[in-house]
Amino acid sequence: MEQSLEALIEEARTAFAAAADPTALADAKARFVGREGELTRKMKQLGALTGEAKATAGRALNAAKQAIEALLTARQEAIEHAELEQRLAAEAIDVTLPGRGLGAGGLHPVTLTIARIEAIFRSIGFDVADGPEIEEDFFNFTALNTPENHPARSMHDTFYVDGTDDQGRGLLLRTHTSPMQIRYARTHRPPIRVIAPGKTYRVDSDATHSPMFHQFEGLWIDTNVSFADLKSVYVDFLHQFFERDDIDVRFRPSYFPFTEPSAEIDMRFADGPLRGRWLEISGAGQVHPNVVRNIGLDPEIFIGFAFGSGIERLAMLRHGISDLRLFYDNDLRFLRQFRD
Ligand code: FA5
Ligand code: MG
Repeated sequence: MEQSLEALIEEARTAFAAAADPTALADAKARFVGREGELTRKMKQLGALTGEAKATAGRALNAAKQAIEALLTARQEAIEHAELEQRLAAEAIDVTLPGRGLGAGGLHPVTLTIARIEAIFRSIGFDVADGPEIEEDFFNFTALNTPENHPARSMHDTFYVDGTDDQGRGLLLRTHTSPMQIRYARTHRPPIRVIAPGKTYRVDSDATHSPMFHQFEGLWIDTNVSFADLKSVYVDFLHQFFERDDIDVRFRPSYFPFTEPSAEIDMRFADGPLRGRWLEISGAGQVHPNVVRNIGLDPEIFIGFAFGSGIERLAMLRHGISDLRLFYDNDLRFLRQFRD
């Protein structure tokens, strides 16, 4: 006996309700409205009827089809909704858990060291100046009495920058902060007392050298200063910087084209982890008369003293660090130790 359409709709309702996911629902759909489905089969039988009987049966079948499709859509929506609810529940964030918090950042030990150096020199009447890291080779070498054929100018000793500035002059990453002697003294009148800290670049890499490092230049120009003044200012700076007086300091004769006489300043501690080891911290000297002339002053009247010191070297000594490259490994376990 033919199943009534009502019974078919009820059967579809039960089957759809039993389908728990989209795949099961697709299977159930095929059973009723698919190509081989029950309703489709009944539609095909219409061909055997005629006239009023065919029209009545057709209307009834269409109504049944609409009813079944409505049930299907409702069930589809219910399944999607349930899936969404489930996902939301699974991915829920427990806002009542305590937060992890943001760690407080800190300044890099080299930055802290620069601040410390600036504070000390400001306190004894020095100005603090700043200059370009991409420098004209005129300021880095020529104006500092360093001739064209000086070995520091060789391609493998210095980082040259392609191209020139707008006046056709060669550019390079400054190899020291000494160009600041020229830049500052050209725009300030004596008495000049200034330090100029900043980044410098060389083709260097070992435990006491890195390719990028920091120096601070010191320049003191007046009519009546002497090497003894330079020495006392520098040694006094070291005592303040290290907060101790038991520091051995030696001025070792050396050579720089832009100073005469010239010295390297070495220091060591009597105790502590780096005990007894001399470390060179600075170059220094009396500003060469040619350089005094290059900044537009008469070397018969003005005398200058200059120094250029390694900032990482001072930080190493102050904190007992054996390898300067640790400053640039960016290992937080190392960096966190410096809060100054
Ligand atoms: C100079 O650079 C001279 N301009 C210093 C100077 C200034 C002399 C004014 C006279 C008058 P020197 O190459 O020695 O000198 O470097 C100075 C200091 O920078 C060194 O004593 C050292 O402390 C530091 N230094 C040099 N190279 C490196 C490097 N690769 N890494 C870290 N520190 C360095
Ligand atoms: Mg040196």
